[in-house]
Amino acid sequence: MINSTMEEEKKKVMPLFTPYNMGNFNLSHRIVLAPLTRTRSYNSVAQPHAALYYSQRTTKGGFLIGEASGVSDTAQGYPNTPGIWTREQVEAWKPIVEAVHEKGGIFFCQLWHAGRVSNYGYQPDGQPPISSTDKALQKEGSSTKYPPPRRLRTDEIPKVVNDFRMAAKNAIDAGFDGVEIHGANGYLLDQFLKDKVNDRDDEYGGSLENRCQFPLDVVKVVVDEIGADKVGVRLSPFADYCGCGDSNPQALAIYMAQSLSELGILYCHVIEPRMCTMFEKRDTNVSLMPMRKAFDGTFIVAGGYNKSEGNNVLDNDGADLVAYGRLFLANPDLPRRFELDAQLNKADKSTFYTSDPVVGYTDYPFLENAS
Ligand SMILES: Cc1cc2nc3c(=O)[nH]c(=O)nc-3n(C[C@H](O)[C@H](O)[C@H](O)COP(=O)(O)O)c2cc1C
Repeated sequence: MINSTMEEEKKKVMPLFTPYNMGNFNLSHRIVLAPLTRTRSYNSVAQPHAALYYSQRTTKGGFLIGEASGVSDTAQGYPNTPGIWTREQVEAWKPIVEAVHEKGGIFFCQLWHAGRVSNYGYQPDGQPPISSTDKALQKEGSSTKYPPPRRLRTDEIPKVVNDFRMAAKNAIDAGFDGVEIHGANGYLLDQFLKDKVNDRDDEYGGSLENRCQFPLDVVKVVVDEIGADKVGVRLSPFADYCGCGDSNPQALAIYMAQSLSELGILYCHVIEPRMCTMFEKRDTNVSLMPMRKAFDGTFIVAGGYNKSEGNNVLDNDGADLVAYGRLFLANPDLPRRFELDAQLNKADKSTFYTSDPVVGYTDYPFLENAS
């Protein structure tokens, strides 16, 4: 009796530790590993060291979203990011997924196409990268130069849609429990969604509905292939990363949330409007609440969360789950540290995107003497 009262008290102050059923998945807590590109997948193939990295961050009943994984040979835009379009890549993911499952985790694969955030070196035969547009990305303050992309012809779009379908099938073959379609952060799907980039005059450009058409086509085929109960989508309607901004983000957010709801997908995962860059917060009155209300499934928020903010957003019914990026990257045992109110390791930015299989990757310390 006393124990169960204490348990109830803990849940009241710690909504992050209230179990949650996300569709068929029984989650033991609400702390999600956000998708994190770690650039340690040599030749676009996930490596054995990723098994240790992900299993370190696995708890029984915990939900993990894998790093962005390319859906085709035109999808890549960074060094050493994994793919999920070849047999070799699928086989390489299997032991990594197994390591997560062995510890009772639920693991989704994030499906990604970088679109114009790429250059000739990552493309087959040194071709220009593909996009909704032929306007090059101008990235302020970045030494990386991006060439003008090639605007996809209308008749080529179904092939790219199909690449996502095949990649989703491959992810399930690799053992993943589901997929998250990466529609955020300025990559290909976002390049169609947002009117500051999408300058098409065919049925995939112009009106809000037309701009959402290609991303929604992708979601539909993936749902047909693996089932809506295994599909999540990540969006960042309020951000303008990689030059991808929109003149009416709230309308875009609501329209996408409603459309995804109609497709009955498992979850919608959204970057907080306060994240003015991928890593910096600003003050804003813009809330994700209207978007949450427009979506019937599980709602995941991400961006700048610490423990108390995570508890607050759940308490205020602003989300069902909270994804943690940098805190989870630096603290393999983040749920445990939150539970014990323990000190957190600091994330080392300088090793976010290096290629060492250990340093800045699997060498962040666990809490000592944790039983
Ligand atoms: C090293 C690093 C890699 C990232 N890679 C991805 C990625 O592959 N896919 C994605 O959707 N977001 C990616 N992000 C964004 C995170 O998922 C998250 O939205 C962001 O870090 C803000 O959350 P945080 O404040 O909890 O770190 C990355 C962030 C970091 C720090």
